[in-house]
Amino acid sequence: MRGTWSGSSVSSVSADAPQSLVQFRALGPSAPDVSSIGYGGMHISIADRPDEPESIRVVHAALDAGITLIDTADVYSLGAHDIGHNERLIARALREWRGPRERILVATKGGSERPEGRWTRNGRPEHLKAACERSLRALGVEEIDLYQLHAVDPAVPLEESMGAFARLLEEGKIVRAGLSNVTVDQIERARRVVPITSVQNRLNPFFRESLDEGVVRYCTDERLGFLAYSPTGGGRLNRKLPAHPVVERLARAHGASPHAVVLAWVLAQGPTVIAIPSARKPEHARDSASASDLQLTPEERREIDEAEFSTA
Ligand SMILES: NC(=O)c1ccc[n+]([C@@H]2O[C@H](COP(=O)([O-])OP(=O)(O)OC[C@H]3O[C@@H](n4cnc5c(N)ncnc54)[C@H](OP(=O)(O)O)[C@@H]3O)[C@@H](O)[C@H]2O)c1
Repeated sequence: MRGTWSGSSVSSVSADAPQSLVQFRALGPSAPDVSSIGYGGMHISIADRPDEPESIRVVHAALDAGITLIDTADVYSLGAHDIGHNERLIARALREWRGPRERILVATKGGSERPEGRWTRNGRPEHLKAACERSLRALGVEEIDLYQLHAVDPAVPLEESMGAFARLLEEGKIVRAGLSNVTVDQIERARRVVPITSVQNRLNPFFRESLDEGVVRYCTDERLGFLAYSPTGGGRLNRKLPAHPVVERLARAHGASPHAVVLAWVLAQGPTVIAIPSARKPEHARDSASASDLQLTPEERREIDEAEFSTA
C-alpha cells in the first residue's frame, strides 16, 4: 500500500514553507509502511559528530519532514566505551519530539563490536542476546521494531546467529528480523531459520554490487524491504556529487539538490527500496526527505545508469 504524508502536519514549520509529500513503502512482508526515505543516525555518533543539541535538531528535522524510519546500531559510537551512543541519542530525540511517536519505526543492529574504535564482527548467539538486551535499554523500549544482523560473522555459521534471532522473536524482544551486508545465498539460508523482513546493503551510483549481484532483484521478487545504506555515496564520496556533470544538470532541471537526485535514482531501483541517508545538518536531513517524491524520467535514470562515478 502506498500513501503520502505531508511533514507539515506534524511540524512547527510555517504553513508557507515548501513541503514535500513523503511517499511510503512497505518495510517488508506483513510489516507497516514507512517513509521511502529514512534517517540513518551513524554520522551523529561517530568521528566528527555534532554536539548533542545539534544532533537532536537533525533528528527532529528529519521527523518534522515526514520521515518515519530511523536506522541506528549499537556500534554507532566512537568506540567500545561509548557503545549505544546513537541509540540513546535517538531515544532522547524521540522523547523530546512533539510529533506522533507511534508513527516512527526504529531499526537497530547487533553483531558488531568496536574494540579500540575498530569495526569487528561478532555473530555468536550469546553476544547477540546480550547486545539486544543492551539495545532495548539504550532505546528505552520493551521491544525492538526491527533488529538486523549487522554483518555475517565468518567465524560463526549464519544459522547459529539466526537461531539467536529466532529466540529473540519468540521472547518478544524483537518484532521483526532483518539482515545487513548479505548475499542472496545468505538471505535464503537465514530465511530457513527465521522470517526475514528486510535486507540492508550498500547502494549508490558509485557502488552498485547490490544490483549486479541480484540482491535488489531478490528483495523485489520476495517483497522484502531493501534498505539502501550509504545512498549518496557515504561520508567522502557524497561530496563529489555537486561537481558530477550529469547529476548537476539533472539537479538544475528539477530544481533539486544533487543529493536528492541521487536518492531518487536509488529509490527507482526497485519498489521495495528504502534509502536511509545520514546527515549532521538539519538542512541536509530536510533535503534528503524531499527526494521521497522526486521522480526521474526513465531517460534521466538511464543517464545516471550509464554515467561514470569515480571513487578515486
Ligand atoms: N549496515 C551497514 O553496514 C551500514 C554501513 C554504513 C551506513 N549504514 C547506514 O546508512 C546510513 C547512511 O550511510 P552513510 O552515512 O554511509 O552514507 P550517506 O548517507 O550516503 O552519506 C553521508 C553524508 O552525506 C551527506 N548527505 C546526505 N544527504 C545529503 C543531502 N541531502 N544534502 C547534503 N548532504 C547530504 C551528509 O553529510 P553531513 O553529515 O555533512 O550532513 C551525510 O552525513 C548510516 O547512517 C547508517 O544508518 C549502514
